[in-house]
Amino acid sequence: MIVACWSVKGGVGTTVVAAGTALSLVERSARPVLLVDLAGDLPSCLGIAEPAGPGVAEWSGAGSDVPADALDRLTVAAAPGVDLLPRGGGSIDAARAELLVQLLASSGRVVVVDCGSLPAVTGGAPAVVASQAERSVLVVRPCLLGLRRAVEAPLRPSGVVVVREPGRALTAADVASVVGAPVLAELAVDPAVARAVDAGLFAARLPRGFATAVRRVAA
Ligand SMILES: Nc1ncnc2c1ncn2[C@@H]1O[C@H](COP(=O)(O)OP(=O)(O)O)[C@@H](O)[C@H]1O
Ligand SMILES: [Mg+2]
Repeated sequence: MIVACWSVKGGVGTTVVAAGTALSLVERSARPVLLVDLAGDLPSCLGIAEPAGPGVAEWSGAGSDVPADALDRLTVAAAPGVDLLPRGGGSIDAARAELLVQLLASSGRVVVVDCGSLPAVTGGAPAVVASQAERSVLVVRPCLLGLRRAVEAPLRPSGVVVVREPGRALTAADVASVVGAPVLAELAVDPAVARAVDAGLFAARLPRGFATAVRRVAA
């Protein structure tokens, strides 16, 4: 199964949700998970060194004669049971995005992709992956400006993760009805999450409440 996490605005928590979903899945099912980075922030979020080698971007530019196991060879260990396919450098060729989805789908693993913030126009490799993934998860805060963009987004999610902030008038149910997709998880803005990420300890000490809350994202 491919779970693609994306947003319509930066800074809402998409990378944290993608990483937390992968980590919590391994914790409770012991099934190996592949985390795919199309946005570039997963190493920092997981508290691991920036991979020095090539990644998805270089693979996408390498043409069709790369060996079938080329993607596997690019992965690095990120946490027990979690491998990371790094983003690499340069642009990701959208023409290779469908093949990327096919290869990831046939990997036999649960694959969680951080597609980052998608542009308002169609196209681009992350948008192709987000539109073709079995589960397409929009991460959004319950705010009018974010919801406006979500409605105008070039693709519809199959589920929504709502990152709740104190003082907001809109509820998760409002978000679900405006976006037209069920709420898979409702997360609080939790200082323990921000501190763990900033300290490079998110993978090593996944905050308990967060791990429980993201359970249904890949269930
Ligand atoms: N649930 C949360 N609680 C507290 N801080 C969070 C939460 N989710 C994300 N953050 C923090 O917010 C910032 C942006 O998160 P990030 O996942 O990088 O957003 P995005 O990928 O949507 O740009 C980071 O500093 C992160 O640690
Ligand atoms: Mg991000």
